[in-house]
Amino acid sequence: MVVSSPVLLGEGPHWDDVEQALYFVDIKSHSINRLKVSTGEQTQAVIDGTSVDFVVPIWQKPGLFLVAVGLNVSEVEWSGEDIEGPLFGKPMASVDSDKPDNRFNDGKVDPSGRLWGGTMGPEPEVGHVVPRQGSLYSFESSPKGGINVKMHLTGVDISNGLVWTSDNSTMYYIDTGTDRVDALDFDIVTGEISNRRPAFDFTGHNVTGHPDGMTIDTDGNLWVACFGGSQVIYVDPREDELLGRIILPAERVTSVAFGGRNLDVLYVTTSRFGLTPEQLAEQPNAGSVFAVTGLGVKGLPGQSAISLT
Ligand SMILES: *[C@@H]1O[C@H](CO)[C@@H](O)[C@H](O)[C@H]1NC(C)=O
Ligand SMILES: *[C@@H]1O[C@H](CO)[C@@H](O)[C@H](O)[C@H]1NC(C)=O
Ligand SMILES: *[C@@H]1O[C@H](CO)[C@@H](O)[C@H](O)[C@H]1NC(C)=O
Repeated sequence: MVVSSPVLLGEGPHWDDVEQALYFVDIKSHSINRLKVSTGEQTQAVIDGTSVDFVVPIWQKPGLFLVAVGLNVSEVEWSGEDIEGPLFGKPMASVDSDKPDNRFNDGKVDPSGRLWGGTMGPEPEVGHVVPRQGSLYSFESSPKGGINVKMHLTGVDISNGLVWTSDNSTMYYIDTGTDRVDALDFDIVTGEISNRRPAFDFTGHNVTGHPDGMTIDTDGNLWVACFGGSQVIYVDPREDELLGRIILPAERVTSVAFGGRNLDVLYVTTSRFGLTPEQLAEQPNAGSVFAVTGLGVKGLPGQSAISLT
């Protein structure tokens, strides 16, 4: 079911359980968006900058968000109402200073409130990304003052799909260019990751599309958006098993998050950016958020970030 009007390149869905609202970004109009699901009210604020790549609320600071703007993590104050003119974020941290044409892509907050965000290389044309230019970072305020920016992975094509298991032992990660979901050992105290290994391979399972954003359910199974595949697949990453798929009326499926009063609705973001008029005629709702119900599973609410100040 379509639950929002279309944006250009929807990404980064985050379920705010307190507000019962879905936050997401439109990378190409560089906006942050909020969908109040009970009323369907959809509001938007454009952020000054070239791309806006993820948005997460700051823990216990209503109206304050950490937003990826280009290569910056910025703190943005937003009432949640439609805003005339751009909002100006306060830059808190910057990455990839040697690669100014990179941009952030997906970002998430780990179970301890630490922000993670990864980058990707420039896109000279839609669908073609200069390979191996991206990195994966985490951000936390340092006990000595300032912000501790840690680089964890380099040589990434398109950084995507971060989730953590409920026992905090494992992080799942996607570099879209590998066509794989990888597992890594995760140390919640130090924030270190290690022992990266393949958990689910799109090519081996003959899955159509490329892995983009993902989320995890309370059974520990993964729900993975398939960009270019018109579907979300769900997989058991411990058994390397494809459990099923949800077909969507939009080809470029970008990310997923569980939400709703019982956390049993799967919200799916999609893109219409770069589609031809013919493709748009066939998938008029491309770019909208879709809600999938009746799946019989539950997810976890979006994790808000500990303030970086
Ligand atoms: C990113 O941060 C730098 C350094 O603080 C700042 O000069 C620049 O204007 C910021 N760019 C955006 C798009 O916010
Ligand atoms: C995982 O970490 C969170 C945050 O520190 C904690 O609240 C939770 O109890 C942890 N879960 C387990 C199973 O240790
Ligand atoms: C792979 O998937 C395609 C498209 O869904 C299908 O036509 C083809 O038969 C599949 N091949 C194998 C080996 O399963």
